[in-house]
Amino acid sequence: MRCGRFEDSAREYVITDPCTPTKWINYMGTLAFGGFIDHTGGALLCKGDPATNRITRYISLQPAGDFRGTTLFLRVREPGGWKTLSPFFVPGLARLDSFQCRVGLGYTRIVSELDGIRTDATFFVPLEDTRLIWDVRILNIGKISREVDAIPVVEYSHFDALKQLTNADWVPQTMQSRSLLSENGRRVLFQYAFMMRETQVNFLASNLPSSSFETDRRHFLGRNEYGTWASPRSLEEEELGCHEALRGDNIGALLHHLGVLAPGQERRLVVQLGQDAHIESAMTGIGLFQDAHAVDNAFARLSESWQARLSCMQVETPEPAANRMLNVHNPRQCHTTFQWSRYLSLYQTGYGARGIGFRDSSQDAMGVLASVPDQAASLLRTLLGVQKREGFAMHQLNPATREGSMGDAMERDDRPHYYSDDHLWSILAVAELLKETGDRSFLDEVIPFYDRHRDGSHVESATVLDHLRRGIEFTRSNVGAHGIPLLGFADWNDTINLPTGAESMFTANLYGKALQELAAMARWRGEPAEAEKYDAWHAEMKERFLRHAWDGQWWIRYIDWDGTPLGSHVNEKGQIYINGQSWPVLSGFATEDKARTSMESLRRMLNTSCGIKISTPSFNGFDPRKGGISTYPPGAKENSGIFLHTNPWVIIAETMLGNGDRAYEYYRQIDPSEKNDSIERFECEPYVYPQNILGDEHPMFGLARNSWLSGTASWVYQAATKHILGLLPTYSGLTVNPCIPSGWDGFSAVRGYRGAAYQVTVRNPSHVCRGVASMIVDGRKVEGNLLPVFGDGKKHDVEVTVGA
Ligand code: GLC
Repeated sequence: MRCGRFEDSAREYVITDPCTPTKWINYMGTLAFGGFIDHTGGALLCKGDPATNRITRYISLQPAGDFRGTTLFLRVREPGGWKTLSPFFVPGLARLDSFQCRVGLGYTRIVSELDGIRTDATFFVPLEDTRLIWDVRILNIGKISREVDAIPVVEYSHFDALKQLTNADWVPQTMQSRSLLSENGRRVLFQYAFMMRETQVNFLASNLPSSSFETDRRHFLGRNEYGTWASPRSLEEEELGCHEALRGDNIGALLHHLGVLAPGQERRLVVQLGQDAHIESAMTGIGLFQDAHAVDNAFARLSESWQARLSCMQVETPEPAANRMLNVHNPRQCHTTFQWSRYLSLYQTGYGARGIGFRDSSQDAMGVLASVPDQAASLLRTLLGVQKREGFAMHQLNPATREGSMGDAMERDDRPHYYSDDHLWSILAVAELLKETGDRSFLDEVIPFYDRHRDGSHVESATVLDHLRRGIEFTRSNVGAHGIPLLGFADWNDTINLPTGAESMFTANLYGKALQELAAMARWRGEPAEAEKYDAWHAEMKERFLRHAWDGQWWIRYIDWDGTPLGSHVNEKGQIYINGQSWPVLSGFATEDKARTSMESLRRMLNTSCGIKISTPSFNGFDPRKGGISTYPPGAKENSGIFLHTNPWVIIAETMLGNGDRAYEYYRQIDPSEKNDSIERFECEPYVYPQNILGDEHPMFGLARNSWLSGTASWVYQAATKHILGLLPTYSGLTVNPCIPSGWDGFSAVRGYRGAAYQVTVRNPSHVCRGVASMIVDGRKVEGNLLPVFGDGKKHDVEVTVGA
């Protein structure tokens, strides 16, 4: 079964069946203003924090056929009255003659046909703007003239998203809507919660005259709300009731008589749904976007900005699926996770004070460094601003208020109140940023630590470099009985929360990797003595790791507080963990023979046709001593599910061992676009990586959930571009070190780097996986595999031959 297809020339995915197994969404705008829209036209919009400034009432727990947030109704005059149509399928649910939802870069376009009317609606948020545009063309494709009305509708949320759900007294008393006519006679509906009427006003406006409106849901649905969204009673009347809601459930609906459309005749309706401080200040922008040219220009600017973001790396491999993912869908998802962290999706509902995650955003930043290094640097500054003086970091933060929290680590008094990995991720992210830009000055920027005096002033500030040093020193001095870093509340795996004293092999390896990065950075800075110190710390931890972590066929994952190994053949459950095997390769701790043995064990025990499982065997039943992992049934999420974020680390490890065939096999088996033809099993969008897929210990093996906001995006992109294709930035410049499938004849790629473009052609005449036999740059032979840094704004030809 399939619900759509990729249209690579348009850089779109086209959904052709509205009854997808779950809602399939797309993102628009930014965290400053934006949200997502599902494929049946329901939009969840926010300005800033989705918990504290939510605009539309989109509740993802409702059944898929229910109205959510926004829609468009059409009505056509028939003998005896009006017939109401739902061109986006929801909420009317009448069978459409044709349906396409085109998921594009920063926009969604729904094109449908019903009753001889074609509706073509594009939704997008103009760059740096605070409105959602619905640019709708309504065309009579029938043989007779039709009288048509168009009624865009929005249902508002209270700005406090959680109060909307928990307080049905205060919220409805505060919600108010008004209507006004602008100078050009167009109607503008505006809406606010009473306390926000001078500061935070939502508006709904359009470019065509509207003869009537409604802002009160009761009146719109009719019959004291025993009328339904599928068939609102008020749409049976000639005009809407024109009520200005003074309380209650606020909506905005504008009735436009498009008039009689002759066959082939079209009308263009541009709707704006946005927010401003007050309605007076909103009027200029509303006026501007009533002009279709402004809409066309804004759309063109949006397309250019995506073109600019994607053009920094485009590839052509022998695999069409890899090309479409690496050129469009994977980088788009990287920008989306970078933008939204884990704030807002169908699964992360953005109600709480969660904010963005320190570890998540550090890793997300690594996926967009090549195209938006300045934005990535700015996010890293924000993150370092919530690092504590001791060296560990606040686990989460609200980017608007810069308020940090320790998240779940505060749940239990008998567990440590810090995460052992957060601060180490920022070392990796800063290192990658510097390798991309070559700009050392970032290290000298001064950023305060999170700690404050009573009067709110910061206790201490330090350079970025000192922040990184503080982090590494924290891990070095917080080790357990075996000299391995203490687990803290958790490491990367949130769900294994062991008593104080437990040690984490993952954190040991992440620390090892961070030490390698700091050593390389020190050499680049011309500080060999500091580099040697980090080398020595690396050797020290490596020795402890090799002494305690080997289990015979693989590496263990934790040492519990009482000295028991976890992730060992002696355990009944959780004998082997994926990160336990990949990370010793990434950190340089694993010896080559043990690395190969452990990666074979991983393959034997954890690999499935839908991806590599996080661990096995699964726990079966809640055990408070084990914590979160045991809340899941066998095969789900961190309990032996395919937790996809971990898979690219295995891919990277395989490339480091030279196994290009295996690396690509692991890459391919998790490519969502490859699930397009069996979507009944996968269920989620085939154009993005999900966070998790049910593993083979679950009866619904292969079913994906939590699409879009996952660290998988950044890491798969890095694994494929830096490690399989091998275009790897270093402090000295871009290196070319492919580790590709031996069957490939080669590939080509264009990569922007430090102010020049490299047009790289890789040939693989002897069909091997890796090794650079020769490299020719602009016609001249270059020794080794480091490309010169040109910085001249020009394109340079690079020809690489893979071989011994
Ligand atoms: C979620 C969290 C991430 C964590 C992972 C594994 O994806 O956002 O921070 O590392 O789960 O538990």
